[in-house]
Amino acid sequence: MTPKLDTETVEICPATLADVARISALHARVFGPGRFSRTAYRLREGAPRVSKFCRKALKAKELVAAVSFTQISIGGTSGALLLGPLAVAPEVSNQGLGRELIATGLREAEREGIAVVLLVGDKPYYERFGFDHVPPGQIKLPGPVDPQRLLAWQAKPGVLESFTGMARAE
Ligand SMILES: CC(C)(COP(=O)(O)OP(=O)(O)OC[C@H]1O[C@@H](n2cnc3c(N)ncnc32)[C@H](O)[C@@H]1OP(=O)(O)O)[C@@H](O)C(=O)NCCC(=O)NCCS
Repeated sequence: MTPKLDTETVEICPATLADVARISALHARVFGPGRFSRTAYRLREGAPRVSKFCRKALKAKELVAAVSFTQISIGGTSGALLLGPLAVAPEVSNQGLGRELIATGLREAEREGIAVVLLVGDKPYYERFGFDHVPPGQIKLPGPVDPQRLLAWQAKPGVLESFTGMARAE
């Protein structure tokens, strides 16, 4: 079981444009060169690099983890976010940083009236936050996606039904 996050040494706070270079370097370390060909990257192309929902984790002032959230519309309907990339430096993995970054981001999303958060990722990791499969064919992305990895969180049960069609960055 992952230990409780040590908030004495780790600080979670909003990411800003000044963090973009450090976050990109973390992505390069964690995901490697193949990351730009992912469909989720294509969806984020042209979107602002940082939204008010993005969060970073600092340990001894070093950026050790970050999560991005991009504002998207689905079939022309606003009020959704794309979560990702989520990246945690290997030397601090399994310490609750990923969990805390996502929980903080989802709390903020809910406060701001976001209805749906979409991601492409591992269900065994994300289901603990309430993410579940998107019904096949309901949401399209600008590239291939394994339907088993297309997951959504909804602020209220059933709200996902009103989000149908192509996802686009806003
Ligand atoms: C996956 C990742 C984000 C997890 O972050 P983390 O801070 O290490 O994880 P947490 O401390 O929040 O949670 C650890 C728990 O998640 C589990 N876990 C980690 N990755 C998992 C996965 N891919 N599938 C299922 N469970 C996973 C761990 O086994 C651990 O379980 P436990 O609580 O039962 O012990 C991080 O390891 C990472 O950046 N990996 C490489 C990049 C990646 O795969 N990103 C996600 C794609 S968007």
